[in-house]
Amino acid sequence: MPSVLLRRAAAAAVAALTALAVATPAAAGGSTIGSPGLGDPYFPLAGNGGYDVRHYSLDLDYRRAGNQLDATAVITARATQNLTRFDLDLRGFTISSLRVDGAPAWFTRDGQELVVSPRRLLRAGRTFTVRVDYAGQPTEVIDPDGSSEGWVTTPDGAFVVNEPQGSPGWYPANDNPRDKATFDFAITVPKGITAIGNGRLVSARSHQGRTTWRWREDSPMAPYLATATNGVFELRVSRAGQIPLYHAVDPAEVPNGAFDRLAAEASVIEFFSELYGPYPFSSGGGVVDHAPEVGYALESQTKSQYDQTPDPSTVVHEISHQWFGNSVSLTVWPDIWLNEGFAAWSEWIYDERHGGQTAQQAFDASFARPASASFWQRPPADVGGPEVMFSGPVYDRGAMTLQALRVKIGDRAFFSLLRDWYHRNRDGNVTTADFIRLAEKHGRQQLDTFFDVWLYQPTKPTTW
Ligand code: ARG
Ligand code: ZN
Repeated sequence: MPSVLLRRAAAAAVAALTALAVATPAAAGGSTIGSPGLGDPYFPLAGNGGYDVRHYSLDLDYRRAGNQLDATAVITARATQNLTRFDLDLRGFTISSLRVDGAPAWFTRDGQELVVSPRRLLRAGRTFTVRVDYAGQPTEVIDPDGSSEGWVTTPDGAFVVNEPQGSPGWYPANDNPRDKATFDFAITVPKGITAIGNGRLVSARSHQGRTTWRWREDSPMAPYLATATNGVFELRVSRAGQIPLYHAVDPAEVPNGAFDRLAAEASVIEFFSELYGPYPFSSGGGVVDHAPEVGYALESQTKSQYDQTPDPSTVVHEISHQWFGNSVSLTVWPDIWLNEGFAAWSEWIYDERHGGQTAQQAFDASFARPASASFWQRPPADVGGPEVMFSGPVYDRGAMTLQALRVKIGDRAFFSLLRDWYHRNRDGNVTTADFIRLAEKHGRQQLDTFFDVWLYQPTKPTTW
């Protein structure tokens, strides 16, 4: 196959280009090489520079026996600079063909960097397509905190969750929350197996003992929120107002009441729609698999993924992420409290408005931790690294920050702030600095000290 030759040629070409770039520093400003990462403080190589993905079309043929994935990804992107070379993120697999705008392109592999050199320069502003044909065993990714993510196999299929860096284990991506895109999925599995992508179900057609499940997500989505969970599932379709809800439950979890837990989603969606603004997406739902060894749930866009039957509060948590995390996305991973603090506080306000404890009582219980507790050493917006990005303080002290802000600026200003935060940033990306600025606007006061004390100081707040 020419791909080996191409690959070898590419290595030489890449070496030459790299040498050129290094030899002529003046060329740096006008470089035509897309950077191999976006410099995220926690995951510097996640994502790539030089282009902006518009759409992923993922055609996945999966057999659990042998854990074999045969796939084609077609990525539509826009060049944001002149490009002679750019990267995608992909782990493992054998690539049998790689084409840019229909023409074979040179490529090399370097860790999770798939380095592509199209035959012709891609001019800034131009839209182009990359087609990658690849096959092999998908990779489960082990995170700095030791948890499993990516394509996590189960006895009957796979539980597919990718926060923060699992996506390149099963599809070539610009794996950074900054680069949101729409997605189409065509997932082919043995008949009797259900495969679940994000968004709406377009069709499920069987042919010669295999079924192709087509799903479409028409709102921009961060790559880590994609899913293709598959296995034996009971799938039920219902509605919340105008939008379809898809609920899939592993038969092993049906006796645990999984469908009842998922049924609550409709009213939770209604609650947050009134509190924060209209539900962000054109479909919703949830998947309860039986994969308890994963140990967490994930708010995958439109369909939260549960490793087992969730508590009611977990359903509330994941649904709230559709607003905060999925529609309003972070820009850099150290701002993860913008997702988790908001979702944890959302659980509190849900309880408060449903006859449970008030958010202030939840705050008080959390605040009762002694100043000497290690909990206070990890401020939510500067938690210390990717190995603790999902640790307690990100969730709890993040939620406390919001509750303390509510008390400081008053309910009126606080709830209008949350609505405005969503309204302005729907389908977008944000930073902690953006939130502070908007909070000061709604609160009509300077809040530097407040946020410094709550988000950045490694000690228990005393005054704010
Ligand atoms: N975002 C998920 C939640 O809402 C947590 C994901 C944890 N991911 C991980 N790789 N540990 O709780
Ligand atoms: Zn969460």
